[in-house]
Amino acid sequence: MKAAVRYQYGSAEVINIEEVEKPEPGNKEVLIRVIYTTVNRTDCAILTGKPFIMKLMLGFPKPKKKIPGTVFSGIVEETGSNVNLFKAGDRVWGFGDNGISSQAEFFTYPEKKNILKLPTDISLEQAAAAIEGAHYALNFINKVNLKQGDKVLINGATGAIGSAALQFVKYYGGYVTAVCKGRDNHVVKSIGADEVIDYTKDDFTQKRAKYDFIFDTVGKSRFSKCKHLIKRGGAYISSELGPNMENLFLSVTTGFGSNKKVKFPVPLHHKKSMEFTMDLMKTGKFNPLIDKNRYSLNEIGDAYKYVLTGEKTGNVLVSIQKE
Ligand SMILES: NC(=O)c1ccc[n+]([C@@H]2O[C@H](COP(=O)([O-])OP(=O)(O)OC[C@H]3O[C@@H](n4cnc5c(N)ncnc54)[C@H](OP(=O)(O)O)[C@@H]3O)[C@@H](O)[C@H]2O)c1
Repeated sequence: MKAAVRYQYGSAEVINIEEVEKPEPGNKEVLIRVIYTTVNRTDCAILTGKPFIMKLMLGFPKPKKKIPGTVFSGIVEETGSNVNLFKAGDRVWGFGDNGISSQAEFFTYPEKKNILKLPTDISLEQAAAAIEGAHYALNFINKVNLKQGDKVLINGATGAIGSAALQFVKYYGGYVTAVCKGRDNHVVKSIGADEVIDYTKDDFTQKRAKYDFIFDTVGKSRFSKCKHLIKRGGAYISSELGPNMENLFLSVTTGFGSNKKVKFPVPLHHKKSMEFTMDLMKTGKFNPLIDKNRYSLNEIGDAYKYVLTGEKTGNVLVSIQKE
């Protein structure tokens, strides 16, 4: 079978497409024929081994797994002898942010991990695009007590995390100010933004508005620059650790007595995120934002190059083989 393969950490050029042996499912595993994957920012961290903590988790000095990939949607091809939850032919999707080797025509996955059957009214394309950003966005949302009418500023609203966070905040009845480039005004409005700030013209930190929550889903701001915009009892959450990992420390120090807190979104509960996202997709309340650039498995190096620019819109799909 064909797979994306890399033997060291590095940029897009360490990825090649190679012919490798098709894996066989263990007793409690399913063999999945991958139809779609994505190249996302988690894949980029796994590819580059940055931040350094990634290398501690994935192997040092070289990655333990040669085939990358964190997301899949596809069809169960074969099941191990003790598999009870799935059968050949099931349409499935899933996500594993430590790397599950899904950037290949086939891969094996334990039936009890982050894999769900997909209802027929959700396309494989939609499912693959729906999970990485949505999972991290839900880990923002789950850190706060979001109420009807709460004002939320989302910096980076055109990213995978930002575009999902925006839709989830709207689902809970919040009022969203989206920060993005002016040319993407219509994109964020189409997924529910109430107000838009064009960051190429205005610095949102210099505005006078007050927010219950600031979600910096691109990690470009700092709490110290946003604190005056946050209402008493509100919170700041960033997708990045910040300079000198300040967001981690601030989440501890502001935890005691401060009326404006920094929360750190440790990404947990993948399967719950998938179930929640699927329910919202079924009712049309969540539609993953998909980038206009799409790639095939042979072009996956170009997909990485593009995503590493930090300029993608939403989610970048890679089509692995025909459904
Ligand atoms: N904590 C975690 O576990 C975790 C997991 C995954 C990702 N991340 C991090 O989360 C961040 C977001 O990832 P993502 O996949 O959602 O998106 P992304 O690939 O980083 O894309 C960011 C989006 O934000 C826009 N953008 C870039 N600079 C901006 C700025 N200064 N102000 C406002 N918008 C800006 C870009 O649009 P324009 O080019 O039009 O500006 C793009 O659409 C990344 O930094 C990533 O490393 C963290």
